[in-house]
Amino acid sequence: MSQQERIYLSPPHMSGDEIKMIEEAFATNWIAPLGPHVEAFERETAAFTGVKAALALASGTAALHLSAELLGIERGDVVICSSLTFAATVAPLYHKGVECVFVDSEPESWNLSPKALKSALADCDRSGKMPKAVIIVNLYGQSCDMEPILALCDSAGVPVIEDAAESLGSLYKGKRTGGFGKFSVLSYNGNKIITTSGGGMLLSDDEEAVTRARFLSTQARDPSPWYQHTTLGWNYRLSNILAGVGRAQMLHLTERVESRRRVFDRYAAELSGIKRVSFMPEPEWSRSNRWLTVLTFAEPFSPMPVLEHLASLNIESRPVWKPMHLQPVFEHSRYFTHEDGRDVSAELFLRGLCLPSGSSLTESQQERVISAVKESLGNQAKKA
Ligand SMILES: Cc1ncc(COP(=O)(O)O)c(C=O)c1O
Repeated sequence: MSQQERIYLSPPHMSGDEIKMIEEAFATNWIAPLGPHVEAFERETAAFTGVKAALALASGTAALHLSAELLGIERGDVVICSSLTFAATVAPLYHKGVECVFVDSEPESWNLSPKALKSALADCDRSGKMPKAVIIVNLYGQSCDMEPILALCDSAGVPVIEDAAESLGSLYKGKRTGGFGKFSVLSYNGNKIITTSGGGMLLSDDEEAVTRARFLSTQARDPSPWYQHTTLGWNYRLSNILAGVGRAQMLHLTERVESRRRVFDRYAAELSGIKRVSFMPEPEWSRSNRWLTVLTFAEPFSPMPVLEHLASLNIESRPVWKPMHLQPVFEHSRYFTHEDGRDVSAELFLRGLCLPSGSSLTESQQERVISAVKESLGNQAKKA
């Protein structure tokens, strides 16, 4: 039997406008990590997310690293972070020798549990070392429950870094994500809701800090006629060509969000009637961009046979992120659960699966995914 066309998890979705922006960069010879597209992309993204300043960077990870630099986080410091995330959220801290304290998810949003955060902050207080930051993550496009989280961090005097890499275009109580942290971070990696092939953005209302980040991201050269450094930096800027791609992608962001939400709705309509299958919930305060449609399978079903069946049919799916507190690299880290005797993020990892969710997914491709999921569940039920 010949293999059917591959269905990817979240492929790039070009509009056609990108090429005009690239041509403009070539025509004006702005083939550099600065230029008019970079400046416009920063302005447009700051306006969209409602912050005062934005800095276009080579990746979301670079933006996370610079956030840590701006907050003066150093070796031996403590940072609290949501456990259920992609490793890039904490990789820059790990490399700095920072102690990461992990916090569970709440079942309502799958994001950082305010209850568990409270326990983590209390533990840091008892141990005499308060965290230098709390990193919150808007998982699979969905905002965290910002109000209780920000209130806790405010009263503890701890700044928030918002990892909004996956949530561009999502809302919390009507306000766009990307503007909730002292520093917030976006990613334009190839699998994100919009992409520059690779890239990121640092967002903040603190214009002075963003100016400092700009300096650090361009090798930290002092304003001097020769190459002089009172400190050293990084080469983290986004190219003018890629910023052009980003600007064109931004023009279509709203459509992309609506397409992904339609993809979610179709999956939910077809699969949520199946007993023991549930979808990532959306609390009333959230409007997610539904970057990925994620579902969970309760006993007797499990996600791995579904993933393997989809793979055999040339359909890409992925397990839910493996929480950081379960990673060998963070074996001995502190971890605070949402409630005693229950580890929500571990449950989501063991029971969850991400389905193909791209905004260019056709209805017939989605039909293929749906019938393959149904087939696998049928097979599992027979074996149970
Ligand atoms: C939650 C999260 N944080 C950070 C990143 C890192 O972004 P980038 O790949 O642009 O470095 C990603 C995605 O790749 C992500 O999903």
